[in-house]
Amino acid sequence: MPRFTDKIALVTGSGSGIGKATVDQLIAEGAKVIGADLNPGDATENYVPVITDVTQEDQVQAAVQTAVDRFGSLDLAFNVAGASKSAPIEEMSEGDWDFTVDLVLKGIFLSVKHEARAMTGGGAIVNVASLNAHVPMWFGAAYVAGKAGAEGFTKNAALELGGKGIRVNAILPGLVSTPLTSAFSENEALSKEFEESIVLSRPAAPEEIAKPMLFLASDDASYITGTSLVVDGGWEITGYPDLSKYMG
Ligand SMILES: NC(=O)c1ccc[n+]([C@@H]2O[C@H](COP(=O)([O-])OP(=O)(O)OC[C@H]3O[C@@H](n4cnc5c(N)ncnc54)[C@H](O)[C@@H]3O)[C@@H](O)[C@H]2O)c1
Repeated sequence: MPRFTDKIALVTGSGSGIGKATVDQLIAEGAKVIGADLNPGDATENYVPVITDVTQEDQVQAAVQTAVDRFGSLDLAFNVAGASKSAPIEEMSEGDWDFTVDLVLKGIFLSVKHEARAMTGGGAIVNVASLNAHVPMWFGAAYVAGKAGAEGFTKNAALELGGKGIRVNAILPGLVSTPLTSAFSENEALSKEFEESIVLSRPAAPEEIAKPMLFLASDDASYITGTSLVVDGGWEITGYPDLSKYMG
């Protein structure tokens, strides 16, 4: 049975990778989707793309308003947009720090703020953080700090929004095959190190992250809020490879 028939969902980062897989699965299960991305792709019968920079409040507000104007409500939100600029701490520019933290932390705040206001009949929000919320990564201090912040913010949002019938959870993916990680997968030696660190010996496909996200948004997760679901093929239990010899 489709779980999201006639539900209205907003997906940030909908144009690529995990966000795109989330859109495809939501539509396959009956939802109508607003996609908020710098490059959201083309409209289809059940997909409304809105060019959006999630670090800009007026643009986030406009994307949410599109859902309300077109479909009358907002039921579900998936905050997936993300990227990072990496550098050793001693060499990291203030601009690179701001780029990354604004995107992966402020972007989540602005999205949840406006999504929650539009969820007048309750709802469910899933924020994409990262395994790096728990595990540091060479030259990824801004990303790691931002993702840890996104996980903490998710718990606070769950606390404040539960009374409105809105559940808020985080998903923490490990390594996923998307354009974001293509530099890793194109490096044979590094790929081998990753495979040795990941218990299931491979990266995830984007669909393998989207499916647990849809679970968290579904009625099957009706008593789950303020939690983090690590979806990493058993990577957290082994530790992170030493990337310093491949970067910098
Ligand atoms: N790929 C992985 O291994 C991995 C692991 C853990 C967490 N994540 C997280 O998953 C999320 C999705 O990553 P992905 O791997 O699908 O990457 P991706 O590069 O395939 O997709 C990211 C999308 O976000 C959009 N985006 C970037 N900046 C934006 C902005 N300012 N406003 C709106 N949209 C913006 C991009 O246009 C792109 O469509 C990110 O938050 C990322 O940090 C990815």
